[in-house]
Amino acid sequence: MNIKNIEIPHGLCLAPLAGVSDRAFRKICRAHGAEYLCSEMVSAAAICYGDKKTPRLCAFDEDEMPMAIQLFGARPAFFAEAAKRIAEGTLEAGLRIPAAIDINMGCPVRKIVSCGEGSALMRDPQLAADIVRAVKEAVDIPVTVKIRAGFDENSVNAPEFAARLEDAGADMICVHGRTRAQMYSGRADLSVIAAVKARVRVPVCGNGDIFSAADALRMFRETGCDGVMVARGAMGNPWIFEEISAALSGRPFTPPKKDEIVAEALRHLSLMLETKPQAIAIPEARKHMAQYIRNFRGAAAARGRLNTCEREAEMRQVLLELASENSEATPEN
Ligand SMILES: Cc1cc2nc3c(=O)[nH]c(=O)nc-3n(C[C@H](O)[C@H](O)[C@H](O)COP(=O)(O)O)c2cc1C
Repeated sequence: MNIKNIEIPHGLCLAPLAGVSDRAFRKICRAHGAEYLCSEMVSAAAICYGDKKTPRLCAFDEDEMPMAIQLFGARPAFFAEAAKRIAEGTLEAGLRIPAAIDINMGCPVRKIVSCGEGSALMRDPQLAADIVRAVKEAVDIPVTVKIRAGFDENSVNAPEFAARLEDAGADMICVHGRTRAQMYSGRADLSVIAAVKARVRVPVCGNGDIFSAADALRMFRETGCDGVMVARGAMGNPWIFEEISAALSGRPFTPPKKDEIVAEALRHLSLMLETKPQAIAIPEARKHMAQYIRNFRGAAAARGRLNTCEREAEMRQVLLELASENSEATPEN
């Protein structure tokens, strides 16, 4: 998949994940074959109002390129101003310029939707198109949009909506095959993604329920999409990108052993501590660590212990003990 000048050889993308796809997680996913990365969603209004903490969400290293910064909001002028500052590198000293700006038109959370943001924009195609046009005028880098199938089952409008966004200048559309009303329940409807693909000329990325290489192959096969975006399936399992890549080229894939999983979880923890203060990194790391160990014997008890850890050393201890309890050499195995 090519998004203008951005080459994504096998179309393997990491989805934006608020509270999850931070620098540490992106680096881990990149190391396992994610070819295109996206930031957590960033408020366009917060950037325009000069919120002090927001620019940190836009920080990334050269080894994370190509990556997109995702903006959410409801006002074209805020989107344009925020995107311009990000794409010109004037948001904060030292911040890099991303490969693309992505626009969030899929977030289902009530707090966001009630402000007319995220998936609420799917009910206002004119405003959504105005936002894309405003951002396109403000920046020289590609502008992409992430949408859902529609707002609810009575308004599954992704194909027409995507066509409006394409006319407004969108350079790639990612479709999560669920409606806003579904939140994360039910199954992603691949037929809607296929209908979007048939309707627009720009690349289309398929998203929803990719938890294995087989799911990704099915997404490619049933929708004709140009790329796949993995979200929950990468949490605790960044190897999914290698697994998909191997399947696409007919190579065998060997899943990681339990000690390799723990080693990677510990590397992830270290990266979090390198990029955030301990008081923030440790609570955030709990959910990641719990995901890595979810298929281990004794995972529930270890999760309970992880939830009380306040320091890196304690967390390491819990994980190393669990690794040794689960080691392939133990008699129960
Ligand atoms: C914890 C969490 C945070 C998310 N944050 C974002 C976000 O910031 N921006 C966005 O466009 N989608 C966000 N999503 C939606 C995902 O990118 C993706 O569309 C959805 O999870 C479906 O893909 P999956 O089945 O591979 O998980 C989030 C999803 C989860 C579970």
